[in-house]
Amino acid sequence: MKAHIVYDSAYGNTKEVATTIAASLDPLPAEAVPVGDFNPGDLALSDLLVVGSPINGWRPTPKITELLSALGNGQLDGVRAAAFDTRVRLFIHGDAARKITETLRADGAHIIAKPMPFYVRGSEGPLRPGELEKATAWAKELLAALHP
Ligand SMILES: Cc1cc2nc3c(=O)[nH]c(=O)nc-3n(C[C@H](O)[C@H](O)[C@H](O)COP(=O)(O)O)c2cc1C
Repeated sequence: MKAHIVYDSAYGNTKEVATTIAASLDPLPAEAVPVGDFNPGDLALSDLLVVGSPINGWRPTPKITELLSALGNGQLDGVRAAAFDTRVRLFIHGDAARKITETLRADGAHIIAKPMPFYVRGSEGPLRPGELEKATAWAKELLAALHP
């Protein structure tokens, strides 16, 4: 069993969350992979797929949306999955993690955690204080959900 943390990131903040989650999933073998380098054929039954995206205009980025379309042909059956996004703290900020989670579920994945938002200070970041600690804690929740 392996964990694939697949992310898109323009300024590095989502990448930082993804690599922190991958490191915090130890002892599970885990790799943070940029969405352009991810091959859906690498997903095996019972693997964990975590998808992370910045919110762009109230939704996931186009590359993440493309990935979700590519995964919508039965490749997620038996795969455990969860999603996170990065966003600014605005009154109306839209959502990406919930949309990704709903799509993964509709495409057959077994969702093991609620969608998780991580906050940046502005479009280019940096992440707000405490967000990487939150990423570590969320990864531990994922581990616990995999091995109840
Ligand atoms: C074109 C664009 C649109 C954005 N739209 C939203 C938005 O609708 N809601 C939000 O909370 N943040 C929005 N943001 C802020 C991003 O979420 C922020 O840039 C991102 O979390 C940074 O992550 P990254 O460093 O991985 O790219 C937007 C940023 C850009 C560049």
